[in-house]
Amino acid sequence: MVPGLWFLRSSIGKKALMAASGLVLVGFVMAHLAGNLLIYGGPSALNAYAEKLRHVPALLWGARLFLLAAVAVHIATSVQLAIENRRARPQRYRLQRSAETTLAARTMLLSGFLVLAYLVYHLLHFTFRTAHPEFSRATDALGRHDVYAMVVLSFQQPPIAFAYVLGMAAVCFHLNHGIGSAAQTLGLTHERTIRLWALAGRLLSFALFIGYVSIPLAILLGLVG
Ligand code: HEM
Repeated sequence: MVPGLWFLRSSIGKKALMAASGLVLVGFVMAHLAGNLLIYGGPSALNAYAEKLRHVPALLWGARLFLLAAVAVHIATSVQLAIENRRARPQRYRLQRSAETTLAARTMLLSGFLVLAYLVYHLLHFTFRTAHPEFSRATDALGRHDVYAMVVLSFQQPPIAFAYVLGMAAVCFHLNHGIGSAAQTLGLTHERTIRLWALAGRLLSFALFIGYVSIPLAILLGLVG
């Protein structure tokens, strides 16, 4: 077998792929938040940004395919590793030794599926615009898709805003353990910095949660829109 292929099929290779694809997705979540925060700059800032993203279709589709590949690799490797772990330990320990692990660490597969469910809903809502089409059809005075109006009209509906808060709680709960763990898998940590990375992961996921959740809350409270 080709040596590289052997590595990718081994447990350690799958773990490395899961970690690397996870970190790519964390990069997207950070960049996406920076773009979304433009909502505080008003309709022209957000709509101009959304229009610019679509300006070079080859770049947009290149980035979308890259992200899609990262999502596929992340899901495939995590499910395979979970199955392998279960096969290696068919009988659950009577006493779950959880003193050294956190709730986020023990529920990564579950929170991962919640993130996936949230992502499907989010794409149907804002990208395919089929979930709530009544809020996503407007164009602004310059004839651009009115992303600002779409987001504001959507989050003025408490059930939609609430669904997003829950979805983003799942995303950030997943990242709470995922970031530090990925850094460790990829060998970025050192014995002395392992706790520091875990703390950095927790702080980053908390900051992402506050940044994302501020948007539906500001709209619901009438501070934006
Ligand atoms: C307040 C929270 C959020 C808002 C307001 C928001 C807003 C948007 C908007 C407006 C779009 C469509 C862009 C366009 O087609 O012009 C979009 C797409 C997308 N969002 Fe979000 N988003 C939020 C949270 C998230 C989170 C937490 C994630 C990741 C877990 C995420 C992942 C995506 C993805 C993957 C796309 C598709 C990008 C593409 O068009 O290829 N979003 N989002």
